[in-house]
Amino acid sequence: MIRPDPAKLADGWTHLLGAGYQRVARPVLFTRDPEQIHEAMIAGLERSPRVFDRVLRSTVAGERSPVTLAGVRFPGRVGLAAGLDKDGRAAHAWAGFGFGFAELGTVTPVAQPGNDRPRLFRLPESKAIINRMGFNNSGSGALAARLRRAGVHRGNQALGLAVGISLGKNKVTPNERAIDDYRAALADVVDVADYVAINVSSPNTPGLRALQTGRDLEALVGAVVRAAHEHDPARPLPVFVKLAPDLDPDDLAAAVSAADLAGAAALVATNTTLARDGLAASDRATGEQAGGLSGAPLSARALAVVEQVVARTQLPVVGVGGLMDEGDVRRMFAAGAQLVQLYTGFIYSGPALVRSANRVSKEH
Ligand SMILES: Cc1cc2nc3c(=O)[nH]c(=O)nc-3n(C[C@H](O)[C@H](O)[C@H](O)COP(=O)(O)O)c2cc1C
Repeated sequence: MIRPDPAKLADGWTHLLGAGYQRVARPVLFTRDPEQIHEAMIAGLERSPRVFDRVLRSTVAGERSPVTLAGVRFPGRVGLAAGLDKDGRAAHAWAGFGFGFAELGTVTPVAQPGNDRPRLFRLPESKAIINRMGFNNSGSGALAARLRRAGVHRGNQALGLAVGISLGKNKVTPNERAIDDYRAALADVVDVADYVAINVSSPNTPGLRALQTGRDLEALVGAVVRAAHEHDPARPLPVFVKLAPDLDPDDLAAAVSAADLAGAAALVATNTTLARDGLAASDRATGEQAGGLSGAPLSARALAVVEQVVARTQLPVVGVGGLMDEGDVRRMFAAGAQLVQLYTGFIYSGPALVRSANRVSKEH
């Protein structure tokens, strides 16, 4: 009797899932305004019944490879990148897509509307996105309350994954008082997060990236690490730091050592880029929009940054930026990233990419 090989069957399913998304779902989704589709997707997932999560987990998710890093147990090494589910409205659904962790946020201590619309642009030929959302969010307190209602408590994996929460400062807060904002947001989420990520790398909050320079970063990370320690001296919440891809090598080296010295538990590299290299001719006009570019044009740059970061620190590195297919994910793990995150690749390739990224994660 011929027995089907389960690995081949799983491969075939991943292929079908990918083709179905790219040939059927994506063309329909991409006819509409990107932010409207994004909102509809989050609202649909938010309202979806819990049985839908279970169906997703048994059909779409595939197998994950667990790992413990920075004292956090990650049920899988492929995560949802920050910004896709800023308010955690769809948090219960992400494990169903195969993610082992989700970085919710970026949230700020006070809710804010973000920049004027339009602020999200697709560059389809380049497999890229430009965004200048500007931390639109309902506030760190609202996110924490929503997670508490869902039964989330630090370490309990109530949603089937590890929960990271990305913290930012409000637009109206001057950089001199940024530390207060990060500490206030931390205080709100400290019991519902498995880690927090200090976001000093968004290009869409004026002046934010200035906080990445060595001395400022050390002061900021040190203050947040101390605050985490005060909240729970026995088991302080791990503090990750997310870096931009646009730092020159010296500034990157200074930022890495500042984060390290100040007690960061891991680094996330990278956020979106201000560069506009590698755009298809048909996307050049959209490419002039202000904001951060993500997706395929960022792949090589993000990979190079991860290589430089890995060479400079023993801290675990979360690789993110332009992971659009299995090859990109494989190169990111090979560069030394211990976890990866997806945003734009998930939009362009759909859930099949999470499945194949999980499979690749087991090779390393
Ligand atoms: C629409 C959009 C919003 C984003 N918002 C955030 C955010 O709030 N905080 C953050 O740290 N990164 C944010 N990012 C950056 C992503 O988390 C990720 O670092 C970046 O997009 C590179 O990965 P990618 O090429 O897979 O998209 C956002 C990206 C996009 C496309």
